[in-house]
Amino acid sequence: MISIILLGAPGAGKGTNAKRICAHYNIPHISTGDMFREAIKNKTPLGELASSYISKGLLVPDEVTIGLVKERLSKEDCLKGYLLDGFPRTIPQAEALTEIGKELSREVNYVINIDVPEEILVDRICGRRVCKSCGAPYHVKNMPPKVEGKCDLCGGELVQRKDDNEETLKARLSEYHHNTEPLVNYYKGLNKLYTVNGVKPLDELMSDLNAIIG
Ligand code: AP5
Ligand code: MG
Repeated sequence: MISIILLGAPGAGKGTNAKRICAHYNIPHISTGDMFREAIKNKTPLGELASSYISKGLLVPDEVTIGLVKERLSKEDCLKGYLLDGFPRTIPQAEALTEIGKELSREVNYVINIDVPEEILVDRICGRRVCKSCGAPYHVKNMPPKVEGKCDLCGGELVQRKDDNEETLKARLSEYHHNTEPLVNYYKGLNKLYTVNGVKPLDELMSDLNAIIG
């Protein structure tokens, strides 16, 4: 079973690399951020709650997020493996995941930290565009679509995420340093941590990732 956590700051490339890894290894891509955005789009009670945190760049409370991930990991498609993008993000989430993994016999094998310096993160977040229909990520300079404003994959409209502005990003980075960065040591202690240089071009990065996973 290939079970992976992608760790990294906002804009490190978790979503971009997750899509490539999941297509290559044929495992489900579980992104808590995407799950919350879907709930916001559908105006569900979860979406309303999540939106009040996400719009300020704050983390959604642990009990809500842990419940959501537990339910998702229980599904049959995770039997062959899975990739978690954006979860866990706090020590209590990581501890809960360790327990869930044991309970469901779906423990995490690889924790991959995508390392990117902060000045690059700001540029990536402010230049990011995402497809409104399929969620594919682009960047106005680094990864422009073939036709401006249109998704290469499905032709959907490219939009900017509401939390992708400098002010909200400051809060997201502060949450990252305070709550999520300690997970690097947590997983080092469990002998599961690998680090990759997230500044490299995507194909080179994919070779590094394959060397770890494959
Ligand atoms: P989430 O959606 O997870 O956002 P995030 O962690 O802030 O990360 P991003 O999605 O912004 O960045 P990414 O690492 O995926 O980068 P990407 O691949 O797009 O979470 C959003 C919010 O939901 C949180 O703030 C929180 O409120 C809530 N939430 C989610 N999970 C939670 C949890 N577990 N607990 C509590 N709250 C939670 O790449 C960025 C840009 O860079 C793109 O434009 C891309 O094209 C470009 N790029 C990527 N890689 C490269 C490269 N190698 N070279 C050049 N450009 C690149
Ligand atoms: Mg993402």
